[in-house]
Amino acid sequence: ERGLRVSDKGFLNTAVITSEITYIDGEAGVLRYRGYPIEQLATQSNFLETAYLLIYGALPSSSQFASFEYEVTRHSILHVDTESLFRAFRYDAHPMAMMTSAFAALGSYYSEANPSLQGQTLYTKGDPQSIANMDKQIFRLIGKATTLAAMAYRVRQGRPFVQPPTGMGYTESFLYQMDHLTEENYKPSPVLAKALDILFLLHADHELNASCTTVLQTGSSLVDPYSAIATGCASLYGPLHGGANEAVIRMLISIGSPENVPAFVEAVKRREKVLSGFGHRVYKTSDPRSFIVRQIADEVFKVTGKDELLETAMLLHKIAMNDEYFIKRKLAPNVDFWSGLIYRAMGFPLDFFPVLFAVPRVVGWLAHWRQMMLQSGGVKIWRPRQIYVGSGKRDYVPINSRE
Ligand code: SDX
Repeated sequence: ERGLRVSDKGFLNTAVITSEITYIDGEAGVLRYRGYPIEQLATQSNFLETAYLLIYGALPSSSQFASFEYEVTRHSILHVDTESLFRAFRYDAHPMAMMTSAFAALGSYYSEANPSLQGQTLYTKGDPQSIANMDKQIFRLIGKATTLAAMAYRVRQGRPFVQPPTGMGYTESFLYQMDHLTEENYKPSPVLAKALDILFLLHADHELNASCTTVLQTGSSLVDPYSAIATGCASLYGPLHGGANEAVIRMLISIGSPENVPAFVEAVKRREKVLSGFGHRVYKTSDPRSFIVRQIADEVFKVTGKDELLETAMLLHKIAMNDEYFIKRKLAPNVDFWSGLIYRAMGFPLDFFPVLFAVPRVVGWLAHWRQMMLQSGGVKIWRPRQIYVGSGKRDYVPINSRE
């Protein structure tokens, strides 16, 4: 029909937007945020500074960073009614279900983001008031992401909610809300806080992955950014995407011990099992993030002690990397293969792992959402076409005439 063709399954080779934010070379295993190699940012920057870079396009001056950090921290407080939202969940509700619901609910607190009140004038390029309004929603979502995650954690742990502390960095404050009840003067281990900060940085953006595309698809209707982020969170929840870090650990637990790895690999080759944490839609050599995550794991294990699943993971990695089945399909470890071992060693509940992916990825989702809102020519609603292959025209048959 009119030159349409199915763009492969799952947008395999389809570009829907131009972007200046993140660059990936899947063949060379390159990842850059606004042109800066991920390896340099991981060793020299921090998550919140990189968040500024991704959203605004340049590394901040010290005064710009101080103001950004102040705004994000100031907006990390939640309306007290949010507690009753979280109390509505069963104690064993999956934290990603809580986060998806909470992001959507958050939008109802801010009339200046309400699409029915603001209509199409909400975000107008060049209008300072509109830009300031957009920035305030961005500060709120980044700041509140950690507080929402901490509330989801406390529901799972059966603990009372705490307000975010002051005087701590973004990631340190998040860790503090995880377990401050354990010790009165609880201070997160600097090694673990740094490790988590780099992991947040590595997870901050990855151009048009499934969840980012979802945010832009939803945001293209000019709905508020809270609702758009909620749909991205739902997409990330899936085991093919951000849920993979949880799936890797469940896979390693089911393998049990290194002796069982060869049999598991054979089951994968028979397509009876999936090797979670391996493969990638874009990286066809290696995911550069996985090397950095692997190094972070060694640093964390010095503080927490080694995870007994590490041996199984290392043997699985070694066998898969040398097996023709995986080499032919260009399957290598992605960012999720090692990260779960770190989160487990740090004591997070298993189903909380995707939340540790969602919190930093709010930054990437917002960077692309802001870029779309400000794109020249204004926002066009995303409405792809299909190739219809269904039935031709036919007439209705009343039910008593049907066989
Ligand atoms: C993330 O897009 C992003 O950028 C995502 C992400 C981000 O930062 O946002 O990088 C984060 O989601 C990383 C991926 C996490 N997911 C997993 O680890 C789940 C396991 N991986 C697979 O489900 C799969 O590799 C995907 C979903 C990641 C990619 O799937 P594709 O691109 O659709 O690849 P495919 O399914 O077409 O696979 C090609 C071949 C197939 O074999 P054949 O049919 O050609 O014989 O490779 C096989 C697949 O069966 N294959 C696997 C496999 N992944 C692909 N076989 C066993 N185990 C796997 N993990």
